[in-house]
Amino acid sequence: MSNQELSTAALSVHPHRRHWDARYRASYQPRPPSALLQRWLARLPPGDALDVACGAGRNTVLLAAYGWRVVGVDVSPVGLRIARAAATERNLKVDLVAADVGEWSLPTAHFDLICVFRFLDRSLCPRLERALGPGGVLLYETFTVAQQQLAGGPQTAALLLQPGELPQLFPTLDVLEYSEGVVAEEGQPRALAGFVGRRAHEAFPTPQA
Ligand SMILES: C[S@@+](CC[C@H](N)C(=O)[O-])C[C@H]1O[C@@H](n2cnc3c(N)ncnc32)[C@H](O)[C@@H]1O
Repeated sequence: MSNQELSTAALSVHPHRRHWDARYRASYQPRPPSALLQRWLARLPPGDALDVACGAGRNTVLLAAYGWRVVGVDVSPVGLRIARAAATERNLKVDLVAADVGEWSLPTAHFDLICVFRFLDRSLCPRLERALGPGGVLLYETFTVAQQQLAGGPQTAALLLQPGELPQLFPTLDVLEYSEGVVAEEGQPRALAGFVGRRAHEAFPTPQA
């Protein structure tokens, strides 16, 4: 975990950090990795991956197990400690960064795969697009407004996608897969949108002579 980012005063008072640290301390239950990620990992060659708001690392650890060099970023050091323990238990290498991802300096044109699961910050989306390397893939799955009719999950409008919104947040990516609907997860109904998009290779044209 990056001690530099852990020691910043800004992070120590971050409201999301307080909220999520308390949640991980009070009620953490190990959860299986995302089914969408599992399905796509079977067809993508490993490279450099970023897991945005990685939490307790269920997907970060899976990425490392598939041979990816993975960076997980999350505002909750308590969540990241759980992720670190899970990776160590499996003898897997992961790079964990404690930071507000909105403030974190994302590299440009770097990642072969970016994952975002159960997290929404619309202002971050243009930077995520730019952080994908040529041919890089974005996997994004989070809740839609239909979750407000269901028990559990986020209920705040800012954290919920409108119908059809997710592909519109990534207008430069080619859509490889998109779905919306209610699925049962561990016995709970979840209203989710799932998007898989790829940055075109020709996003970086060679200068003409
Ligand atoms: C519902 S959890 C999802 C965790 C993980 N992606 C998963 O699917 O298991 C949401 C995560 O977002 C993190 N988070 C919230 N605001 C954040 C921010 N500004 N920067 C980084 N992480 C943030 C929380 O700490 C929490 O771990």
